[in-house]
Amino acid sequence: MNASANPLRQGLAEDRTPEPTTVVIFGASGDLTKRKLVPALYTLMAERLLPPSFAVVGFARKQVGDGAFRAEMKDWCAKFARHKPTEELWSQFEKGLYFHTGEYDDPASYKALKERLDAIDRERGIQGNRVFYVSTPPATFPVAVKQLDENGLINKAAGGPFTRVIIEKPFGTDLASARELNAHCLTHLREDQIYRIDHYLGKETVQNLMVFRFANAFFEPLWNNRFIDHVQITGAEAIGIEGRGGYFDHAGILRDMVQNHLFQVMALTAMEPPVSLSATDLRDEKVKVLKALRPIPDGRFDEFIVRGQYRQGSVGGKRVPDYHEEAGVTAGSTTETYVALKMFIDNWRWAGVPFYLRSGKAMAKKVTEVALVFKDAPHRLFGEKSISEPNVLAIRIQPDEGISVRFGSKVPGNTLDIHPVNMEFRYGTSFGTEPPEAYERLQLDCMLGDQALYTRADEVDASWRFISRIHDEWARSAARGVPTYEAGTWGPDESDAMLRRSGQAWRRL
Ligand code: BG6
Repeated sequence: MNASANPLRQGLAEDRTPEPTTVVIFGASGDLTKRKLVPALYTLMAERLLPPSFAVVGFARKQVGDGAFRAEMKDWCAKFARHKPTEELWSQFEKGLYFHTGEYDDPASYKALKERLDAIDRERGIQGNRVFYVSTPPATFPVAVKQLDENGLINKAAGGPFTRVIIEKPFGTDLASARELNAHCLTHLREDQIYRIDHYLGKETVQNLMVFRFANAFFEPLWNNRFIDHVQITGAEAIGIEGRGGYFDHAGILRDMVQNHLFQVMALTAMEPPVSLSATDLRDEKVKVLKALRPIPDGRFDEFIVRGQYRQGSVGGKRVPDYHEEAGVTAGSTTETYVALKMFIDNWRWAGVPFYLRSGKAMAKKVTEVALVFKDAPHRLFGEKSISEPNVLAIRIQPDEGISVRFGSKVPGNTLDIHPVNMEFRYGTSFGTEPPEAYERLQLDCMLGDQALYTRADEVDASWRFISRIHDEWARSAARGVPTYEAGTWGPDESDAMLRRSGQAWRRL
């Protein structure tokens, strides 16, 4: 399917093909490259969204030749790309696929990379446009950016070939380190060359949040504190930490999922209509939401945040061990695998409306959604029993992408009973196609120079400002330990209690 056939591309970015470009992936032996980045690039080519002069260079420490890299990537594309490699397309794609062995902190490796890229430019008619995708462990982000600059790989001159750098997550681990990383990047790059990736922004249904709100007239008038009782944003995963204990035990779910993905979803849900869809206008509106987050009052953290850690249980009939038994987890770790937050956005539209966010590993099932729970109708014409449940508008981000509206309906019969029913829109049924992978859209946008779906320095700053205070509080109260929840459930009881205190309840998903 080409871009013009995809209704969700229309209006969000101009439909055009990027200029000839080389994408260099740092961390090319990592999981993300195999599962997401190269399969996404191949799919873009299969959908004719890439220019004919195009190259991908994998950069990593290991010694691999172009041939072996091509063969390995073909296997991964066969497993993970939306378009499975065909002989014809793959042979076209692999001609532009190279591997370059190097050390991230060694200037000689960058000099050799530069020579290699210049040679590829000549060979494939690319005129120096480059995207460097830094998908290494985070400690290497600053090193790579510095070495790229110091070895002449970053073109800052306006009008010449472009150099853009995509930085993977996590962008910092707290407010201070995020600021340091931002400052570091800005000494080597212009802000318009920095692409801080949050793959949730590349998800089709996350973008549809904007389309739903601003291309339609009927819900936006209700999208405020006059009609909305509260908002629930859930990012639940059935998987545990799947061999990523070494990383996760240092991060925790608040850093891993909330500071970035859920905050971005919340910002898109809560923001004012942007003046345009330009990167500046869109991000201006998101950052206003993040800046308006009410800091949790000192001494009252227990009212606004609950964390949990999974203990043994089962998910989908499969036994899940205690978090402490997972490889890479330190003995006695208090790292949270679940978190629930009650937040307020102190602005005109949302005054007094709680935003509840929850995210967890090893939960009952994978589901990501935004639900707006409405206030009751002003008058109960049908008596007290007339409304058993509030009206809910739920935007399902994944899986079963779609939107549903829950409202009360008369039960057929000669009595007046009212029962909640659903009105559903499902992506699959309505469009008969699966949504593209987030990394397709995001890599394409970077090649096109569109930063709208990438996060800006001030957004990252504002979200860490809120989140870092929680980590500081947890460090102070570490001795109190962490509540646990059985794997395969919806989190610790304390999380339900937090909503109950305000007369609300988590949706059963
Ligand atoms: C990543 C986190 O950013 O997002 C993972 O590091 C998490 O821990 C993943 O599993 C979830 O992404 P998705 O697209 O599967 O919802």
